[in-house]
Amino acid sequence: MDIAKLRADTPGCQTKIHFNNSGASLPPYPVLHAMQDYLTEEANCGGYETAAANATSLNRFYMAAGKLLNAPAKNIAFTSSATNSFARALSCIPFKKGDVVIIANEDYASNQLQFLSLEERFGIALIRAHSLPEGGVDVDHMTSLIKEKHPRLVSLTHVPSNTGLIQPVAAIGKVCRELEIPYLVDACQSVGQLPLDVEAIGCDFLCGTMRKFLRGPRGAGLLYVSDRILHKPWYPLFLDMYAATWTDDDTFVTAPDAKRFQDWEQNYALLSGSYAAIHYANEIGLQNIADRNRYLGSLLRPRLQALPGVTLLDKGTALASIITLTAPVSDPQWLLTSLRERHINTAVSVTASALIDLKSKGVNWALRIAPHYFNTEEEIDLLLDALESLFANP
Ligand SMILES: Cc1ncc(COP(=O)(O)O)c(C=O)c1O
Repeated sequence: MDIAKLRADTPGCQTKIHFNNSGASLPPYPVLHAMQDYLTEEANCGGYETAAANATSLNRFYMAAGKLLNAPAKNIAFTSSATNSFARALSCIPFKKGDVVIIANEDYASNQLQFLSLEERFGIALIRAHSLPEGGVDVDHMTSLIKEKHPRLVSLTHVPSNTGLIQPVAAIGKVCRELEIPYLVDACQSVGQLPLDVEAIGCDFLCGTMRKFLRGPRGAGLLYVSDRILHKPWYPLFLDMYAATWTDDDTFVTAPDAKRFQDWEQNYALLSGSYAAIHYANEIGLQNIADRNRYLGSLLRPRLQALPGVTLLDKGTALASIITLTAPVSDPQWLLTSLRERHINTAVSVTASALIDLKSKGVNWALRIAPHYFNTEEEIDLLLDALESLFANP
């Protein structure tokens, strides 16, 4: 991997030390230029005319996303965020009172909120599988719950936002496939940093966002939908005339492909930037990215752990490129701002964003450091120096 070239491609690398890649990463020039060029053409030529003139190149988004996930292009929808993808997937499931949904304690906060809302409004029964003492969902417990309860849906967050934990999504997918149970995977933090294969995972839906490890624009996401779902008469609760065709006064037919999950109106500049981001990641290679990130993590984790007053919080046998830790300071905002003043970007996770997990770790906030392949050893040194001096003078 030519790190110098990748950094030269990234304007943000010139002035910032960016370890907030699990929040929003730094887009490279191809992403920035794709969006700027598209917006310029729209302003000069008109929105509809620009979309028509660029139809073929815009379509590359679906092919590139399909390549990224090992799925046909027709199974991919472009959305506005991972949460939006998740909600669209959920809204196509005809939940009835008493339907069981099985999830994990570590699942992303907004997903938990959506299930709690379904519980309140439609009377579904939400069951969380146990976590293992060493971290992550207890696959045996989740499997026995699935076999016993035969749920309407199983859902798992691949890499939760507030920890580097990698959940065993394929092991759960195998059980769901055996029992033909719909399976929704939130891959928001794993897409762009780990190789993903929807066939190997065995999922029916997979949600992703563009701005994190894919290094794409904000306000853009993707949704994979399996043929198993597309062959059912299921569709999102609120359809528009892209997702369905109005065939007679009182009838409609839904799109046969994942466009059923997409809106007619789209931000085409973001679609264009999203294609550029996915293509960029595909060109580097997801295994290369995962290997480089594992290397950066192996440099960071022991050195962070060695700082006085620091405890690493990530549990699990397999860890991704998110490192969370307790820091010997009382005000997380002060720490974040002080690092930003030194041009170092990090993030803070608070209890409301990972209630069950952070409570179980006995903390109400954690510093989150998420390296990505373009980060360097020198940047790690600078981060460690900054933390050491801030912790010495809190
Ligand atoms: C694991 C996980 N899922 C979902 C989301 C939501 O993504 P978006 O903000 O694109 O909806 C996040 C955001 O941090 C996340 O970390």
